[in-house]
Amino acid sequence: MLKLLLALLPLLSSTCLLVSGYSARAIFIFGDSIFDAGNNHFNKNCSAQTDFPHYGSSFFHHPIGRFTNGRTVADFISQFMGIELQESYLEAQLAVTNGSRRDYPTNGVNFASAGSGVLRETNEDLGVISIQEQLQQFQKLIQQNHIDKTLIPKSLFFFESGSNDIFNYFLLGDKRDLDTYVQTMLIQVADLVDQLYKLGARRIALFSLGPVGCVPARALLPNAPVDKCFDNMNLMGISVRYTGTTAVYGAVYDIVQRFRSVPSRYGLLDVTNACCGEGTLGGLVQCGREGYKMCPNPDQFLFWDYFHPSEHTYKLISMALWNGKKSTVRPASLKTLADLPRSHALFKIK
Ligand SMILES: *[C@@H]1O[C@H](CO)[C@@H](O)[C@H](O)[C@H]1NC(C)=O
Ligand SMILES: *[C@@H]1O[C@H](CO)[C@@H](O)[C@H](O)[C@H]1NC(C)=O
Repeated sequence: MLKLLLALLPLLSSTCLLVSGYSARAIFIFGDSIFDAGNNHFNKNCSAQTDFPHYGSSFFHHPIGRFTNGRTVADFISQFMGIELQESYLEAQLAVTNGSRRDYPTNGVNFASAGSGVLRETNEDLGVISIQEQLQQFQKLIQQNHIDKTLIPKSLFFFESGSNDIFNYFLLGDKRDLDTYVQTMLIQVADLVDQLYKLGARRIALFSLGPVGCVPARALLPNAPVDKCFDNMNLMGISVRYTGTTAVYGAVYDIVQRFRSVPSRYGLLDVTNACCGEGTLGGLVQCGREGYKMCPNPDQFLFWDYFHPSEHTYKLISMALWNGKKSTVRPASLKTLADLPRSHALFKIK
């Protein structure tokens, strides 16, 4: 008996290695530049780009379509789960079309497009892929059997959008009143989450917006203060929330405000200015565009560029979402969400 067990051991452990870790083995990602991993890069019609130094420099060592100096929250969570980082949908599509890849990846797909919002019209003129279109791309993959349907209920779904709608509200001086605008956004979010659910998603993580009123790019707005955060804008952000029985809510706003209140505890020296940029708050020029300057140590900055957190900030946020308290992620952490009971029979072997 012992002999049999010993003989089985290498087999078992290698089997366990294959399916070890969390019951969730894939992440599907929808949203804007917080998550974009190359969709805009592969969309030559889109003018919201990061195809130049020093995007990606701290981790990938070259621009790779991400809107920060390294990994995003989706990348960190993938690493915590022990799975590969997700490819952007357009990159995978190109590879499947040109034959360099047989089918779409099994670790999930990233549909996020920088500049998009929850409102279809947000930054339409920049050629971004609206979140409604992102959902349609996902739906098409399911219909064409490019995604294993049994994978969907076990996968994580990340949804983060809304900062660009809010920024544009102030930038373009939208004539609607604030409440109406936010209500319109909320209706869209509820509808999108509803669609995800109907497509089979069961482990949905909804991220609140960060303190969008604190981004260095507020220096571009006509009436925003630069000596403190733009409270009007933050108030709009906070109300964008939606919770349901299958949804986990990541309180990114509260998490980031904690970093801002005791920066030194998180290794941060500057929670106000962009590391890479120029002008007031480093918020007037995009990193890499003419006239930009870069700080020597991006890890000490909350903000990488005029709109986006640094990789270090994303790492801190990811840790709080992965295994944080109820005040940061509720009703369950992402770790719990990824670790919901396996239905895999292999694990019943005792
Ligand atoms: C196919 O597309 C991928 C992009 O996903 C690219 O890296 C690769 O070089 C392409 N191969 C050919 C033969 O064009
Ligand atoms: C390209 O972007 C423009 C807006 O800048 C849009 O009107 C047009 O439909 C887009 N074309 C494609 C092929 O996506």
